[in-house]
Amino acid sequence: MHRVVLVRHGESIWNQENRFTGWTDVDLTEKGVHEAFKAGQLLKDFPYEVDIAFTSVLKRAIKTMNYILDQDDLLWIPIYKSWKLNERHYGALQGLNKQETAAKYGEEQVRLWRRSFDVPPLKITVDDDRYPQRDKRYKELTEPEIPLGESLKDTIARVVPYWESEIVPHIKAGKNVLVVAHGNSLRALMKVLENISDEDIIDLNIPTAVPILYELDDQLRPLNRHFLGDQERVQEKINVVANPGKIME
Ligand code: 3PG
Repeated sequence: MHRVVLVRHGESIWNQENRFTGWTDVDLTEKGVHEAFKAGQLLKDFPYEVDIAFTSVLKRAIKTMNYILDQDDLLWIPIYKSWKLNERHYGALQGLNKQETAAKYGEEQVRLWRRSFDVPPLKITVDDDRYPQRDKRYKELTEPEIPLGESLKDTIARVVPYWESEIVPHIKAGKNVLVVAHGNSLRALMKVLENISDEDIIDLNIPTAVPILYELDDQLRPLNRHFLGDQERVQEKINVVANPGKIME
């Protein structure tokens, strides 16, 4: 049996401020750091040690990964970073408050931007400060790779080839793999792993810093998937992501 653990980063400053983040490199909040520690503790109780780890080039994921690995005294294991695991690029929505955007464009439009399979956000143009090539970490991207605003479908088109070429060989070689990424780069991966339909993917929300354990068969088909930790707490965190800015019961 093969194993992979997926973790979304802990709460970021823009999660707290309820702003579309995408490729903006914002830091974790204090709560986010605490969540990452807790995720590390949960993985400590995991009966199999992580052998290799993958993350994005955004600090909220990198730091979450480091806090997790530090808890488990595993900072020495091989760690790979790639922009291909970044959050979806949220285009011209990046920086906007999600509730204000819903008030301006309507709840339904925002729901489509956030959760639909193939509706892209409003795009940026090359003269925008948010154009990725202004940032040296993205200099090597080729013209067609540079996102101006990605739908989930666009995100799948970069995450899944990376998964197949860089991560799957390690899983097949028997390594226990940890992937620390983002709400929508993980939705992209989970959609393909679990063969979730374009319609059903709208209901998948990924809580911050909850380890998601998959056990996979030899064909890497999921045998089961568990959100680790207290299940009531996990559900509360899912509700926060599904309804950002709303007061939860
Ligand atoms: C963001 O980029 O704003 C968040 O990381 C994910 O946002 P979403 O839950 O609104 O898709």
